[in-house]
Parts: sequence; structure tokens; C-alpha cells
Amino acid sequence: MLNYALDDVSEFQVTGMADKINKSRADTSTIWGGRFADGPDALMEAINASIDFDKRLYAQDIRGSKAHAAMLAANSIIDPADEAKIQQGLDTILDEIETGAFSFKAALEDIHMNVESRLAELIGDAAGRLHTARSRNDQVATDFRLWVRDVIDGLSSEMQRLQAVMIGMAEAHAATIMPGFTHLQTAQPVTFGHHLLAYVEMIGRDRGRLADCRRRLNESPLGAAALAGTSFPIDRGMTAAALGFDGPMTNSLDAVSDRDFALEFLAAASVAGMHLSRMAEELVIWTSGPFGFIRLSDGFSTGSSIMPQKRNPDAAELVRAKVGRIIGSLNTLLIVMKGLPLTYGKDMQEDKEPVFDAAETLGLCVAAMRGMLEGAEACPDRMLAVASSGFTTATDLADWLVRVLDMPFRKAHHVTGELVKMAEDRGRGLEDLSLADMQGVEAGITQEIFDVLGVENSVASRRSFGGTAPDNVLAAVKVARARYLEGMDGHD
Ligand code: ARG
Repeated sequence: MLNYALDDVSEFQVTGMADKINKSRADTSTIWGGRFADGPDALMEAINASIDFDKRLYAQDIRGSKAHAAMLAANSIIDPADEAKIQQGLDTILDEIETGAFSFKAALEDIHMNVESRLAELIGDAAGRLHTARSRNDQVATDFRLWVRDVIDGLSSEMQRLQAVMIGMAEAHAATIMPGFTHLQTAQPVTFGHHLLAYVEMIGRDRGRLADCRRRLNESPLGAAALAGTSFPIDRGMTAAALGFDGPMTNSLDAVSDRDFALEFLAAASVAGMHLSRMAEELVIWTSGPFGFIRLSDGFSTGSSIMPQKRNPDAAELVRAKVGRIIGSLNTLLIVMKGLPLTYGKDMQEDKEPVFDAAETLGLCVAAMRGMLEGAEACPDRMLAVASSGFTTATDLADWLVRVLDMPFRKAHHVTGELVKMAEDRGRGLEDLSLADMQGVEAGITQEIFDVLGVENSVASRRSFGGTAPDNVLAAVKVARARYLEGMDGHD
């Protein structure tokens, strides 16, 4: 958008924006320029303006202003007639913005001044009373908290929808056997439903982290004014309640300078994104030819321009990659905030874009993951084939030796290792060894051992709490529904 040579400011070109900036210099000085003879330099405006991104806060800004005006009037700080004009003007502005009729001006810097300036156009002098006992510092902190709060609510319900899809799949695949991995080496057979429910738990904690963040952020900065509070007899409890906050923030300096609510949101979003990225990576692996555990729908696959056989899992790859932006946003804001003295510094205007971007990215990733899973088809035959190879029931064999022959586990591990080696040398599975072969290694082994060598028996036996047995999965599905989906409307 910007195209200028740093050593020659006169070459400053902004597509469409330079004109607007230069034309509206005069407007700026009427807002805060009582002691300024000259308007700001065009480059100053370019670096200073945040309206391009903070216009997203319009609804919260207007909501906050309406609550503030009502409180000012209720406490006889402004006249009821002025308050009525302010309320009406703010409603008009909300409508103008929502219908696209509002013209945002870069010269008016940010959303707060754009709204206030338009209010003056609409209602005249009364508009100037709205900013009594308030500063943009407490105003922006309030708007931003309200915005993050709304976003948390939206994201949490998107994440719940994703959980609902996973829980449904888990139920359908409670007994579908797949290989479980450690080190991405086939380890023990598990059920696909159990694997899916692992993510349901992760997402449950992710939602919990967002809820924690929401609980802590839900205090109102409004009325902290610039930093020190105000001499007007305001009622911070009243504005806090009107905006759905639990109460006013305790310390005015903290109220205008705290951004840890945004950092907590980004941290929670990063962890949630990290989980989605792991799941995305599994989809990439599972959809690959050699695995073939999952087939994504046409709607979530892309073709190759040169290789007709390809079905690429681009959405999964992008979820895996996009999470980098969320984690990057957390880093960005931590770096912006570290080392800032109390209280407000303009640095803090840089808090918004990372949060906006992270929120949007996470929302898209959650929705794309849901879309992929909704249309995905599992390939149980492939899963079973891989689960049955690679001696995945070796632990079951060792456990049998412990349970039936009362062998110490370490010794059982050793005996099993010898049997695995024997099977491997013969190019067979453990269950293909003869009883005589096995008894050659450990005389106490009986025919019954074959019962535990099949993968079905293996998973069915893992009934310990939290284990992978199909019965456990079905029970866990019920618990997950009650725990995570209760109160969900329409999405299940
Ligand atoms: N646009 C500003 C921001 O987002 C609003 C607060 C400006 N405050 C100030 N003292 N200049 O941080």
C-alpha cells in the first residue's frame, strides 16, 4: 500500500490514502490540536493512524460510549438532553457503519476519533461532552477487552462444533482398530475412536484456557481516564455493569496499561492452534499413499496440475502452517509490551493487529478442521493391516507372561524380545509362530497365549480407566457429550 523512498519524503505515495490524509489535516487539529499551529506531516499520519485496522472495534466503541454517556447523565455530569442527543447520534453512527455509509478518515487516526468527529457533525456541541471524564486510553482498553471477550465466545462455540464432529466420529469408530504410535513407530493397536477423543480432550482444555482468560479479562478499565482517574463523580460500577463486566478494574494505572488479557488470549490461541496443527499433521500423514488411513472429501482435497492421481490435503497443510501466525502474534505482542514503562504508550496501539489476525486465523483453522473431518472417510482395512503388522501385540505377550506365569515384567520383556526376533527372522507375525517355537524360548507358554496376540483382543483388553478398549470409548463418548456439548444448540 505504501510506496515511498525513505530519503525523499516528497515521493510519498499512498494509493488513495495520501490525498485523504492531506485533505483532512485540518480535521485533525480540531480534535486535539488546540496548541498545534500546524497539522502533522503526512508520514506522521501514516505511521500514527490505526483506523485501517481498529475500525473493527466500532461496535464495542459505540457500546462503551453509550454506557459512558448514560453514566455521565445519571450522575449529573452531563445534561439529560445532551445525553439523549449523544445516544441518538451514536445509534445513527452504528447504523451508518453497518450499512457501509460511514466514511472512515485516516486523518482522524483511530476509531475513537472517527466516531467522535462524526458525532459532532451529527449533533453539534453536545458531542464534545461525551469525552468528559474519559480518555482514549481507558476507552481503547475497554473496547479491546470487549472485542476479545466476544471473540472468545465465538471461538469457543466453533471449537465446540469441532468437538461435536469428533465425538460423533469417535462413536462410529469406537471399535475401529488402528495402529497407535510412539516415535511414529507402530507401538500398540488402539481404536480410532480413542484417538479422536484424545483431541476432544485437548480442545476441551483449550476452551478452558479461553474461559479462564475471559474470566480474568472481564473487568472494566472505563473511568480510569488517561491514567490517574478523574475528579468527576463518575460511577465506574455502573458502566462496568452496563457492559457486562464483573466490576471495574481496581487500579487506574493498571487499567490503561494492562495488555496481559490480550497476551493470555494469544497464549491460549497458540496452544489451541498447536493442537490443531498436530491434528493437521496427522491428517497429512493419514491421507498419504503409504498410510491411506483417511480419505478427505473432494471438497477438501486439491488436485495437482501435473500428476492426475494426486489428492492433496492442502487445507490440513495450511492449518499446520497458519498456526505459525498465531504463535508469531503472541511473540509480537510480548515484544511490544516488554520494557514499556507504565502507563499507556503508543506502542500499545500495535496490540491490535496481532490479536485480530490470530483470532481470524484460529477461527478459520477450527472451521477448516471441522469441514475436513465432516467429509472424511476412514479406511478401516488399511488401519487394521498396519495395526496388525510390526509386532504391535508384543506388550500383550509380555503382559501375559507376567499375568499367567507370574514372571517379573523385566524378564517377560526379555523373553518377548527373543520371540519378536524369532518372528522377524522368519518374516512372520508373532501370532504365526507355533506353540512349539514359543515353548523353545519359554517352556511355560501354553496355547492360551494366542488369545492375546490378535489386535482385537489386545484393544478389547485395555479396559483400564482412560484406555482404548471399544467399551471404554463408547462410555467416554457419553461422558464427552455431557461434558463438552451440553447446552449446545443446533450443532450436534
Ligand atoms: N488508537 C490508540 C490505540 O489504539 C488509542 C489510544 C490513544 N491514546 C493516546 N494517548 N494517544 O492505542
